[in-house]
Amino acid sequence: MSIESKAKIVTTHVLHEMKLRGEKIAMLTSYDFSMARIVDAAGIDIILVGDSASNVMAGFESTLPITLDQMIYHGQSVVRAAKRALVVVDLPFGTYQGNSKLALNSSIRIMKETGADAVKLEGGREILESVNRILSAGIPVMGHLGLTPQSIHKFGTYVVRARDEEEADKLVEDAHILQDAGCFSIVLEKIPAKLGAQVSRELKIPIIGIGAGPGVDGQVLVIHDLLGITQEFSPRFLRRYHNLFAEISGAVQSYIKDVKNVDFPNEREQY
Ligand code: KIV
Repeated sequence: MSIESKAKIVTTHVLHEMKLRGEKIAMLTSYDFSMARIVDAAGIDIILVGDSASNVMAGFESTLPITLDQMIYHGQSVVRAAKRALVVVDLPFGTYQGNSKLALNSSIRIMKETGADAVKLEGGREILESVNRILSAGIPVMGHLGLTPQSIHKFGTYVVRARDEEEADKLVEDAHILQDAGCFSIVLEKIPAKLGAQVSRELKIPIIGIGAGPGVDGQVLVIHDLLGITQEFSPRFLRRYHNLFAEISGAVQSYIKDVKNVDFPNEREQY
């Protein structure tokens, strides 16, 4: 059976059904057309145009510098490629916090200019007004709790979040607040596996984990980490499925050698 004939468009409703029948949800990031086309054709359920583009595409140390215009550019490229997966675009830092009108305008720009299916925001009760306003415009919202990289300067470190009872209780409360507001799903990043399983059990909406253990409803990774394009980032939760850094590097070295030796192009590779 071809990929096309198996294809089924993933919607927020489909994701809820998957949770109900206990089918795990697979989500990966992509930021450009070519990668999104591969990821989508392989059958991924959700493509996240993450603000991790700030790190892996632009080379910044954090997710803070990426702009709304840049996220829209990445979003447009991915949406052009995604035939099957639900596409979620991150609202970048400074485009929704503390100003619900700005949050709505930023989300409307993302939806109108990229054609994405949903937006993602980091935070709980402190961004509730923004979440409500975006939802009131009929825009699906995915939450993001636990380690929220846009707040890295507040945390001061990328260590596991919500290990103590107080922070764990706040996270569970925030998850309920986001669900009650109408979010269709929540990402939980780098928290104890037990807590991830608890939130997934308590909530009706799909919970997607990254370093949140196996008890959640789905998993997300940054595609560059999974493929081994990034080398320096090695958290415990990361499983590398390839070492593309070495493979690409080897191919480039072979090409350089062939050019230098006038071995490329050969007789068949010319006009
Ligand atoms: O930006 C991103 O890639 C993310 C994932 C790590 C969940 O938010």
